[in-house]
Amino acid sequence: MKKLYFVIALALVLTGNTSAQKKKPVQAPPVKPRNEFIAELLAKMTIEEKIGQLNLVSIGFDVTGPIVSKNVEEKVQKGQVGGVFNTFTPVAVRKLQQMAVEKTRLKIPLLFGYDVVHGHRTIFPIPLGLSATWDLKAIEQSARVAGDEASADGLNWVFSPMVDIARDPRWGRIAEGSGEDPFLGSRVAEAMVRGYQGNDLKADNTVMACVKHFALYGGASAGRDYNPVEMGERTMREVYLPPYKAAIDAGAGSVMSSFNDIDGVPVGASRRMLTDLLRSEWNFKGLLASDYTSLSELIPHGVAANEAEAAALALIAGNDMDMVSEIYINHLPALVKEGKVSEQAITDACRRVLEAKYDLGLFEDPYRYVNEKRAAATLMKAEYRNIARDIARRSFVLLKNNNVLPLKKSGSIALVGPLANNKRDMIGNWSGAGDWKQAVSVSDGLKTAFGSAVVINYAKGCNITNDAQMLARLNAHGGEIAAETRGEDELIREAVEVAKRSDVVVAVVGESQGMTGEAASRADIGLPGRQLDLLKALKATGKPLVIVLINGRPMTLPWENENADAILVTWFAGTEAGNAIADVLTGAYNPAGKLTNTWPQHVGQVPLFYNHKATGRPFNGEQLDKYKSRYMDLSNEPLFPFGFGLSYTTFSYGDVRLDRTKLAGDATVAVRCTVTNTGKMDGEEVVQLYVRDVTGSVTRPVKELKGFQKILLKAGESREVLFEIKRSDLAFWNIDMKLVIEPGLFHVFVGGNSRDVKKAEFSVE
Ligand code: NOJ
Repeated sequence: MKKLYFVIALALVLTGNTSAQKKKPVQAPPVKPRNEFIAELLAKMTIEEKIGQLNLVSIGFDVTGPIVSKNVEEKVQKGQVGGVFNTFTPVAVRKLQQMAVEKTRLKIPLLFGYDVVHGHRTIFPIPLGLSATWDLKAIEQSARVAGDEASADGLNWVFSPMVDIARDPRWGRIAEGSGEDPFLGSRVAEAMVRGYQGNDLKADNTVMACVKHFALYGGASAGRDYNPVEMGERTMREVYLPPYKAAIDAGAGSVMSSFNDIDGVPVGASRRMLTDLLRSEWNFKGLLASDYTSLSELIPHGVAANEAEAAALALIAGNDMDMVSEIYINHLPALVKEGKVSEQAITDACRRVLEAKYDLGLFEDPYRYVNEKRAAATLMKAEYRNIARDIARRSFVLLKNNNVLPLKKSGSIALVGPLANNKRDMIGNWSGAGDWKQAVSVSDGLKTAFGSAVVINYAKGCNITNDAQMLARLNAHGGEIAAETRGEDELIREAVEVAKRSDVVVAVVGESQGMTGEAASRADIGLPGRQLDLLKALKATGKPLVIVLINGRPMTLPWENENADAILVTWFAGTEAGNAIADVLTGAYNPAGKLTNTWPQHVGQVPLFYNHKATGRPFNGEQLDKYKSRYMDLSNEPLFPFGFGLSYTTFSYGDVRLDRTKLAGDATVAVRCTVTNTGKMDGEEVVQLYVRDVTGSVTRPVKELKGFQKILLKAGESREVLFEIKRSDLAFWNIDMKLVIEPGLFHVFVGGNSRDVKKAEFSVE
């Protein structure tokens, strides 16, 4: 009976009479239970057909490596492809899907993946900005909107969330993650998976998430992309692994293995990471895809002499799908014949691909995500732009404010800087389906907000960069950044004239979107080009100076912090960037974002992170004491600590009160702190809880985030915030690499950032 339904389903597909053409999705005919269905299908498959399912190819426009997939349509029709990425729209997807389900022997539908990283068509702030909201509902909502749009656009698989912990702002991909903290990173990872996948992967508006890049990719040494990772097991388990684990425990359907090597073993060839840890220890049952040509890159890594060796290593390590290398399709058939890989390993990998397709409901309806009407009604709808605007303003971090913000609603503003009248960069990197032409510039946002009440005098001031090589490199990959033909000195002079005629200067400066993201590491993380010269010239006019920073990483801003009257970090804020920035500059919205990375004073301090170890010779301000862990030429302090961010109002923290000073058995410690809005405006505050294990069998971080709550307080209002610390929150990997809770003294800190905290203590029995 069930078999009959499946035949009917396929017949519907073959005649083109599918839900895609109908008004409402048809009630999908049931297929057999998953195990039975897949076992029967596998039994029919030849080894070549199984290997075909492991081939993940790129067709379309976004190339993120030196190699491009060829003859994709032909391969699809020959059953040599299991999934494609870099193509979307119902039309394009239907065309390929039809080839798979009409032209191949077993009519197995394709997966359609894409890098939907911070929104699909409606673009949200870059993930680093999203994390700065510390607002898990908002983050989940951004992924929900992205999932709705992506699935309306033919996609069923998103290569997100990117959950790599990053402590090094030179690494361009710091923009794609949630910063340096494992606790926050884990909560964000879960929220993203929930947003994409919802409760039902089969629903036509949900998509399968892909957790990346497993593992430790953010630990690239020297902040240089694709560089090896040198990391001890404890740091790996305590700092870098938790977000991947959290995403998997939240039900993520797939994982992407990473480019990097870990202590001499490229992840693509690492059975320890991909099988022993991910599959056996974590019990991950989903699909594991490689990164872009990362499997053939085992050759330049130097662990495989040729493609055949690389394919064998990669499959044995545990990679199910081969993204773009095509070394599986080209070499696995012979490797099986030669007995170098087992047919069982191929069958297992193929089973996981088929299971993903089953879970997405593709066997019931291969066109489930192909629906022009839904696309037209969904993509970039006004409601989604409004959500993007709200989330964008929530992501901004106010680093300094001498009462110059919010701006007055009268008089004149000198709006200057290479990013002031710019749409191209607003949507940031990894926004492939986003249309930057539909983005709102800061200039347009401010004009809309102020109308005729304020005169806005614009000057570009300088280019983002004037380095010819950097420009060429940016433009080679769609950076689309054009340098003014007029000289920089002239541009700066013009901006100074504009400043002199205005009451206040708003300088919109920072990075171009191509300066962060993949393969966009920077050795100097200050403002590029002549932008600092521009700021200095503006400062010399004596006019109040507001810096609006457009950025994809923590940046070094010592002069700016010393000299500007206000600094607002706005990341690459997405489609609604300009409106959201105007909301904050005008005071329509009171900023509440907090940094999720430590911002150094100088790149020489990097990596600098709040949850570091103490050392045996910690420096506590003893200036003339030579033998301390410190720099001779700079303090150890960051410019801005992790968790930092101001508001237009102020908050005070009362003492930290604990309901007990000894923790035994299954009890918890209740931590209470009263927070008061001491200013004149309503505002939100991210109240943060940190813990320090004072003495252990191994050294422990000086602080570890264990909880946070974002609360809204009316002007003058006080509220008691309550956190519960469970014993399990205090576990760590001890001297024997066992996850344990050791008795002893713990410090508890509560505050509005990782530096300015109130303290209490308790002990674990
Ligand atoms: C390479 C990137 O590392 C990864 O994040 C991305 O998903 C793939 N390319 C596919 O574009």
